[in-house]
Amino acid sequence: MKLRKADEKDIQTLVELYLQGYKGLEEYAYTHPEDAQAYMNWLFRRDADGMWVAEDGGRSVGFVAGDGRWFSKREGGVVGAIHELVVLPEFRRRGIGRSLVEKVFEYFREKGLEKAELWVGDENTEAMNFYKKLGFEERDRFNYWVRMIKRL
Ligand SMILES: CC(C)(COP(=O)(O)OP(=O)(O)OC[C@H]1O[C@@H](n2cnc3c(N)ncnc32)[C@H](O)[C@@H]1OP(=O)(O)O)[C@@H](O)C(=O)NCCC(=O)NCCS
Repeated sequence: MKLRKADEKDIQTLVELYLQGYKGLEEYAYTHPEDAQAYMNWLFRRDADGMWVAEDGGRSVGFVAGDGRWFSKREGGVVGAIHELVVLPEFRRRGIGRSLVEKVFEYFREKGLEKAELWVGDENTEAMNFYKKLGFEERDRFNYWVRMIKRL
């Protein structure tokens, strides 16, 4: 498995990873390919430098979208946001998600950021357990989203 920087040429691949990765979690995701594509465009516009792709044997199997200039209203300042993280189901529990997130932590620390923030679906227990394992703690909730924070 290797990590590489994402490039705008990857957008179609990321759309496919995203749609496949959110099967069963549709209530928290865009399900129409055009919406998913608009979302990927938004992620690149937010912070293209914070995006990495995981490859296994030349195949893209996951990606992370970090954002090193996100103003968090609730924290009252700029934090490192993890907007998106997906690993294909058949490649899970091999440490790929962890490697992607650790890459983003490194990027946030290089930018001098002190906190990482994310929002996760309130019934997405797999992802919540994953993030807790990586040191995130639940802070508050809004509708069906849970906000988590980690000190970097
Ligand atoms: C969340 C996600 C990215 C995790 O990816 P992954 O590559 O399977 O994660 P890792 O293998 O690096 O897991 C690291 C540790 O997190 C914990 N963990 C991961 N998945 C877990 C699960 N389903 N249940 C409980 N703990 C879990 C484990 O402790 C794991 O270590 P272990 O396998 O040695 O026990 C993946 O499940 C996914 O793509 N989910 C769908 C999309 C999603 O919900 N994204 C998050 C949006 S906010």
